[in-house]
Amino acid sequence: MKTVIIYTTKHGCTDKCAHTLANEMETNATVVNLETERNINITEYETVIIGGSIHAGMLNKKVKSFIDKNLDTLSKKKLGLFLCCMYEGEKALEQFQNAFPEIIRNKAVAHGLFGGEFDFDKMNFLEKAIVKKVANVEQSVSNINYANIKAFAEKILK
Ligand SMILES: Cc1cc2nc3c(=O)[nH]c(=O)nc-3n(C[C@H](O)[C@H](O)[C@H](O)COP(=O)(O)O)c2cc1C
Repeated sequence: MKTVIIYTTKHGCTDKCAHTLANEMETNATVVNLETERNINITEYETVIIGGSIHAGMLNKKVKSFIDKNLDTLSKKKLGLFLCCMYEGEKALEQFQNAFPEIIRNKAVAHGLFGGEFDFDKMNFLEKAIVKKVANVEQSVSNINYANIKAFAEKILK
């Protein structure tokens, strides 16, 4: 099963989750950061996993445009979708639904909410101010949900 995990990251959380997922699956998954690799050919993979993160309610632009450009091909693949974000529960689910188009959400064999991190060392002044005001958080925190990553990997491997 040739697998690719395609993602982007702002402060490194989605990158961490993509690599944790690749290790969890114990297959030779190729991990591709869309920021650095633009010419990815998904036709050569049987399984495609797409991950992104939410900033101010929106999925990363590069992930969104990658999905839009490849919608037809993606809907014919074994597919997994995951999201990094700090909201949990209903709000996280709502963000997931807004992030990924219905056609590929319905097709995906695995949906993942992998939690998130606030990394103050990597935030700019404005981001720090937003996080302090909106989330009421003043220092770095990691809420990556490793159990959800494991469960996601199991669904993909089934
Ligand atoms: C400026 C800013 C805005 C954010 N907005 C949201 C948001 O609207 N909803 C949410 O659930 N998480 C939000 N987050 C949390 C991110 O989703 C979280 O930091 C995630 O781990 C980022 O992953 P990345 O570093 O891979 O981009 C925000 C974080 C920052 C710094």
